[in-house]
Amino acid sequence: MSNHHMEVVAGRRFRFGRNWARFLGIVDRRRIEQAEASLVEAFGGADFRGRRFLDIGSGSGLFSLAARRLGARVHSFDYDPQSVACTLELKHRFFPDDPTWTVEDGSALDPRYIESLGRFDIVYSFGVLHHTGDMYRALHNAQLPVDDEGLLFVAIYNDRGFRSRLWRGVKRLYCRGRLGRAVVVGTFVPWFVFSGLLKDLLRLRAPWRRYVQYRQRRGMSIVYDWLDWLGGYPFEVARPEEIFRFYRQRGFTLEELWTTPGDGTNHFVFRKTGPGAGDPFDSMDRTSTSAPPDIDRRTPPAPDTRHSRKETRLWQRS
Ligand SMILES: C[S@@+](CC[C@H](N)C(=O)[O-])C[C@H]1O[C@@H](n2cnc3c(N)ncnc32)[C@H](O)[C@@H]1O
Repeated sequence: MSNHHMEVVAGRRFRFGRNWARFLGIVDRRRIEQAEASLVEAFGGADFRGRRFLDIGSGSGLFSLAARRLGARVHSFDYDPQSVACTLELKHRFFPDDPTWTVEDGSALDPRYIESLGRFDIVYSFGVLHHTGDMYRALHNAQLPVDDEGLLFVAIYNDRGFRSRLWRGVKRLYCRGRLGRAVVVGTFVPWFVFSGLLKDLLRLRAPWRRYVQYRQRRGMSIVYDWLDWLGGYPFEVARPEEIFRFYRQRGFTLEELWTTPGDGTNHFVFRKTGPGAGDPFDSMDRTSTSAPPDIDRRTPPAPDTRHSRKETRLWQRS
């Protein structure tokens, strides 16, 4: 029995891959094009042609597919065998015999595996590292394969304090078994539908527009993302400044930042510009799930000369 399967059986992990397998049924040309557009936008219009692109936690495989269609050489991996199967399925549908897109089983918590992959121009990990069970170790591992001057994209759930802890409880309940799942889905899905409807009616907006607009953002489906949100466990969160400092200490410069005031993800694009500060995990208990010793949880300093001008502007925006 695989570690993944044991974690699922023990109620400690959401079956992301099962959700992605259902999502594959609705992947069409428009969703793929929207995923491509979202990738290009995320990297500020970067040219993907010939770039080495690593998709950590590829899920459905939609963004690996988008990167490949944009001309990148892609390696995708995921910890959930069903997610790996989904990514393989998309590869077989669109790039069946293409040697420049490889798909594997692997974990963001396995530094030896990640180091064995070599160096990449772009490392992309959307909504993954906070679901590993050891977010800071995964954040550290994600930067290992970034080449000098390469780009790293991470999307990490926003820390909302007590509210985030409540959501963690909901997700844990979902993963406990059928009853927990029924309670969570039966409570929150109607709540999402009706609260959205009410907001739209009060703002005199057509209610279906939120669903159409959602798809336009990344080509995803709001319904499958609701399930991913409700069940998505393990679940960790971070404030934007924590992620910013974490990667600054490892020789990365923040290039782009999108923050949310809500429960969703903050998005970061970093460039590897310097050597970094060694491996803080070397001196840690390997089973620890806490932040490494170099994580500074104080409130952010006022922007000052320690940040580049661009970083300061982005910092102020957040
Ligand atoms: C919310 S989904 C995001 C999928 C994809 N990146 C996207 O943007 O659509 C999270 C994915 O992370 C994967 N995952 C969780 N823990 C992982 C780990 N340790 N290593 C690699 N992938 C992991 C899950 O199996 C799941 O497919």
